[in-house]
Amino acid sequence: MTRSAQKIRTVAGIINSIETMEGDGFIVRRPFPKSAFADFDPFLLLDEMGPIDLGPGQATGAPAHPHRGFETVTYLLAGRMEHKDSRGHSGILGPGDVQWMTAGAGVVHSEMPEQEFARQGGRLHGFQLWVNLPKRDKMIPPHYQDIPAEKISTVQSADGLATVKIIAGEAFGARAVIATRTPILYLHFTLRPGAKVLQPAPPEYNALAYLIDGEGEFGADKKQASDGQMVLFSQDGDEIAIAAAPDAQAPLNLLLIAGAPLNEPIARYGPFVMNTEEEIEQAMNDFRSGRMGQIEF
Ligand code: CO
Repeated sequence: MTRSAQKIRTVAGIINSIETMEGDGFIVRRPFPKSAFADFDPFLLLDEMGPIDLGPGQATGAPAHPHRGFETVTYLLAGRMEHKDSRGHSGILGPGDVQWMTAGAGVVHSEMPEQEFARQGGRLHGFQLWVNLPKRDKMIPPHYQDIPAEKISTVQSADGLATVKIIAGEAFGARAVIATRTPILYLHFTLRPGAKVLQPAPPEYNALAYLIDGEGEFGADKKQASDGQMVLFSQDGDEIAIAAAPDAQAPLNLLLIAGAPLNEPIARYGPFVMNTEEEIEQAMNDFRSGRMGQIEF
């Protein structure tokens, strides 16, 4: 038996981001969730913070708030953020660092600008992705994977025109250091003018590309998209094609995010994502009665 030839996926749609306010009042670009597009199993939300140049004292963040039933993945490109939680965990994220937080049964945490960065001001740019947990993992103890920039595998294509930072999964023959609960690809590609990338992704994975800056050509049908847009791929192939035009004025920067769908019911209320309404009520009760703890330092 011979292996069938690879097939390049087509584009199912292109989605524009909305701008919305988060936390203490910072603007994010958000391709989803929005009314016409609530989730993209197993992904629940993608936010781009900035890029914004903040003056001294201008930086804001998200003070104490809970999460239960999913994971938050924070990836910073510029600026410094500080994280504290109800289990005594804290950490600082700088450019290129990733925090993969498995909220599981629940944490209360704060995500704030690091104090010195807030005092001085500067450029802030980053992403938060919410990854749903399967029913069997929703109530596991919370844990963190804090990965500094230098530990994120970075690989160049053979022709040197494309670079990938591998946050989760595999690309260009290399593998991420982060472990995921379900199969997920989270890749940050940079394509210089003329670069072409073919990234394997099993057909059952839902797959999206979010354009950070520049423009490019996507899928077997060569659809065009530009920064702030999200490209959704059809589940009709096992490879994702991305290209930057040879005469492009700037590199194309994008996140390629794909994962095996959970195909489980979703009950969602703000920072809680469970399978049933009863579980959401339980989460709200547990939070209100302090069973998710509080930040004590
Ligand atoms: Co949070």
